[in-house]
Amino acid sequence: MSADAVPSTGGDEAAAAAVGRGFEEVHGRAPEGVWAAPGRVNLIGEHTDYNDGFALPMALPQTTVLGARRRTDGLLRLHSAQGDGRVTELRVAGLAPGAVTGWARYPAGVVWALRERGLPVGGADLHLDSSVPVGAGLSSSAALECATAAAYDGLYGLRLDGPELARVAQHAENAFAGVPCGIMDQMASVCCVEGSALRLDSRTLDVRQVPFDLTGHGLRLLVLDTRVQHDLADGAYAALRAGCERAAGLLGVPALRDLATADLCAALAELPRDLAPLVRHVVTENDRVGRAVDALTAGAPEALGALLTAGHASLRDDYRVSCPETDLAVEAAVAAGALGARMTGGGFGGSVIALVPVDSARAVRRAVTGAFAAAGFAAPAVLEAVPSAGARRIA
Ligand code: GLA
Repeated sequence: MSADAVPSTGGDEAAAAAVGRGFEEVHGRAPEGVWAAPGRVNLIGEHTDYNDGFALPMALPQTTVLGARRRTDGLLRLHSAQGDGRVTELRVAGLAPGAVTGWARYPAGVVWALRERGLPVGGADLHLDSSVPVGAGLSSSAALECATAAAYDGLYGLRLDGPELARVAQHAENAFAGVPCGIMDQMASVCCVEGSALRLDSRTLDVRQVPFDLTGHGLRLLVLDTRVQHDLADGAYAALRAGCERAAGLLGVPALRDLATADLCAALAELPRDLAPLVRHVVTENDRVGRAVDALTAGAPEALGALLTAGHASLRDDYRVSCPETDLAVEAAVAAGALGARMTGGGFGGSVIALVPVDSARAVRRAVTGAFAAAGFAAPAVLEAVPSAGARRIA
């Protein structure tokens, strides 16, 4: 979707009909139901979820749409419109971590994780189609997991609540796909509602819907995909996570969430030099989430701008997960009139969000594209983020 176009995903009804047709072509009969789960951007609160902290994600209009029908022979038959055309056939009883590769490990992992919980689920035919860009840091894998979890919940009458579905999806990603992520992406994909950002407490999984009215305030939220692919399984993310846990241990707190802003200076003086910046990022970032929620609650979303840019500086200088492309996108966007900008998601590439007044949207987009061309970087892809609904049954 172009940032200059009116954002549209074609609607749930059209998506359900298209996936229903695709399902019949592949599996030979109609699905029992069709479910959708979105990708996300995180407004603020990065690398805080695995520190039991706070985040403020919102769901994107881009979704993974999945048609499903139960099978009685214990087989899981998976097909993706983005795949190589083949159906991946797996025996549910034989699912085990490491046994499945590629995109199929996410839906297969969810089925495995449900069975690990002792839930009575069997096989199914699945067909999916996704509009969430892959490798852009917009949680395409969480969308796939959460669509599968929601579909299985519906097919097998499990009646799991939102946080339970998110936990199942996260367990699939951690233990089956081997990616040591936190819970934010899955909570966002399941629990977001249209028109709001989700204030998430990652320790309790308490959520609050915080109205985020961009249009009413003459604002747009651009997503600038740097096209630099990140891979959370590559070790850097796990090393940061381990560093935070080591720091919490040295400070004698259960998690960095428990370190108060007032105690930060004293704590930094106690910590080894490699850990102090990580702690400074997490504590100041949790504080920025609180201030962002206050700004939105006060009906002043433009006040997010400065928090976004401060958050990016902290991720760049203290947490060190930005890269030349994300830094340049932030710099160029702000110079061209964005109220603020930051990388979103795990980092090491992926996407930047920029909060822009409507009148500056075109100039910001041009400036970032021009700066990338001048630096010899691949042209960024530009989307528009509109606060959208979480996982749901659409047919
Ligand atoms: C990735 C992970 C999330 C979270 C972010 C950083 O998106 O999947 O759990 O840790 O990075 O905030």
